[in-house]
Amino acid sequence: MTPSLLITRSFFPDMLEKLNKYCNVVLWDRAAPPEKHWIIRNLNHMDGMITMLTDKIDEEIIRIGASQGLKVISQMAVGYDNIDVRSATERKIAVGNTPGVLTETTADFTWALLMALVRQVVQSHTEVQQGVWRPWGPEVFAGIDVNGSTLGIIGFGRIGQAVARRASGFGMRVLYYDPDGNRSKVSGIPGEPSGLEMLLCHSDFVSLHANLTASSRNLIGKRQLELMKSTAFLINTARGAMVDHNALYDSLAKHQIAGAALDVFEPEPIPADHPLLKLPNVIITPHIASASIATRRRMASMSIENAYAGITGKKLPYCVNPEIYNS
Ligand code: DGY
Repeated sequence: MTPSLLITRSFFPDMLEKLNKYCNVVLWDRAAPPEKHWIIRNLNHMDGMITMLTDKIDEEIIRIGASQGLKVISQMAVGYDNIDVRSATERKIAVGNTPGVLTETTADFTWALLMALVRQVVQSHTEVQQGVWRPWGPEVFAGIDVNGSTLGIIGFGRIGQAVARRASGFGMRVLYYDPDGNRSKVSGIPGEPSGLEMLLCHSDFVSLHANLTASSRNLIGKRQLELMKSTAFLINTARGAMVDHNALYDSLAKHQIAGAALDVFEPEPIPADHPLLKLPNVIITPHIASASIATRRRMASMSIENAYAGITGKKLPYCVNPEIYNS
């Protein structure tokens, strides 16, 4: 029998065309995520799902899917904090993700944000666009130098390390801290392991790259922001839930830190009336750090590999709960 596959977002047409030869695909062909009730209604005897990080795949969806024969949830992202993996594991449903392929693209974008933020690219462009050209002057749009400064990286996995490698081109000192407790020196990568407080006190830029876990959730709140230098910047391309955004707003409004660039938010999208959107020293982008065409195609094709393995009863090549294969 032809297996069936639910995909929760519009997808690359050429990849869909190939998939349609092997599977009955049910597609939510829109740019915005489907409502939960659409997912549940369409789970009817699905063998697999390709999900996006914006879909909340909770216990209810997993229970209903399992009762109808769901075998695999293949996330088109490296992060999978939107999926109740424990419920899936209990029901022997494989969960896959797309590790590795977005590392360099995400690191590039982190640097795009860092540079734009500190050199006020967006602010100055906006002024020029509005017809204001401040005459050249010694202090006009003058900020701090990136070269020779200190970068604090929170979460020193693949992406954190790729960001650190780029920092050596700027002659920066790199400090890093891993919320999951790994304090050892990573060989071959520039940087010194650090405690969180020391990193926050000494860094000119603090950039978040951890996975969202119990240890990294709400990691940056009022107390942590108070430890940062008044000239320092916060960059988040990881997950919004690591930062207390009310505390961040207060800290920015009181000039306790100099600025922030956020590619991720909690919730997403950021509410249109959120006060952070009104601050001049904040850049907010809509979760696009991995958005190069090549990377998104690699992510899509890994998610297909995972989904196809799962629906045909094979082990997923990129599996986050391999323990389901133990018994
Ligand atoms: C991921 O894969 O988790 C990223 O956030 C996608 O941009």
